[in-house]
Amino acid sequence: MYRAYLTVLLVLVVGATAVAAQSPGESLFTQTCVACHTIGGGRLIGPDLANVHYRRDEAWLISFVQSSQSLVASGDTAASSLVAAYNGMIMPDHPLTDDQVREILAHIALNSPAGNPPVVDEVVDPAEVTTAQIDMGQSLFVGRMPFENGGAACSSCHNVRTDAVMTGGSLAKDLTTAVTRLTRPGVEAMMKSPPFPAMRTAFEGKPLTEEEAAAISAFLQVTDEVHLTQEDRDYGRTLTGYGLVGVLIVLGLFSLLGIRNTKHTVNYHIYGRQIKTRKDRQVI
Ligand code: HEC
Ligand code: HEC
Repeated sequence: MYRAYLTVLLVLVVGATAVAAQSPGESLFTQTCVACHTIGGGRLIGPDLANVHYRRDEAWLISFVQSSQSLVASGDTAASSLVAAYNGMIMPDHPLTDDQVREILAHIALNSPAGNPPVVDEVVDPAEVTTAQIDMGQSLFVGRMPFENGGAACSSCHNVRTDAVMTGGSLAKDLTTAVTRLTRPGVEAMMKSPPFPAMRTAFEGKPLTEEEAAAISAFLQVTDEVHLTQEDRDYGRTLTGYGLVGVLIVLGLFSLLGIRNTKHTVNYHIYGRQIKTRKDRQVI
């Protein structure tokens, strides 16, 4: 799961905000909730908790924080529709006592902007999810960064639609909305033990690390969230860029081989791109 990422995030956040005197509620909130929730700062992985004490009663909040899935299993419709609204994302259980949750709720109430209930369905600002992780996920996905255990780049078989990435392989399903379809834990489970033979072979004996899986699922979460707003703006320029690089490489190779003086029987522009495409599609 993305626990490694949460831990890193928590360490950063806790380190940055370690203030002299914190109430018990505040330090619990900072240690356990802040990775996914803000109070009045907008939606992160979970909803903005500002004024949540007006929306839900205390008993419900205590049960939800302790074990949201038990509440869902008990048939609570508020809990299950909330989980559905967050694409099946499961809030982890917290082994906190009722009193500890009350402390946290008091901290939330104290810090909620008065009379300013949160907008529940604000779009997540991808930059806030952790840029470093998204970058890492993207590099791993397209093969710019090798996997620690040597697995194949996802883009050799999968495509994902985003401005940031060149077209990937078409052997397997497009993963642009994989997080909506499968949830992040689902996508990570899929990466760590692929149920599909073609993909399993590519990672046999070369498992992804927790950190890698978390980074890729973060990257996929962001492409999923922003895909509707993606424009083709930069696409042409990127393609031309790659084309030019391809042409230069091919020209360089030909000149090395000393056949630069032969007539141009190859359309280097297309040739360069095909070499590139073939590489992308290659199944390793
Ligand atoms: C890993 C991310 C994560 C962590 C950590 C987390 N939550 Fe959540 N939380 C969520 C998600 C996602 C939801 C939306 C419901 C769902 O999908 O389960 C949620 C929903 C909630 C809700 C319901 C909000 C509403 O609008 O009704 C409350 C209350 C809440 N969380 C409190 C907490 C508290 C308190 C902590 C710390 C003890 C915490 N959460 C830690 C992800 C998290
Ligand atoms: C050798 C080719 C190959 C590689 C490399 C590969 N996959 Fe797959 N993957 C597949 C095949 C084949 C399927 C099965 C169904 C299909 O066609 O989408 C699949 C299915 C999936 C699914 C389920 C799709 C869905 O919506 O049902 C996910 C998620 C996924 N792969 C993620 C990844 C990630 C992330 C990576 C990189 C770490 C990766 N795959 C690398 C071949 C590959």
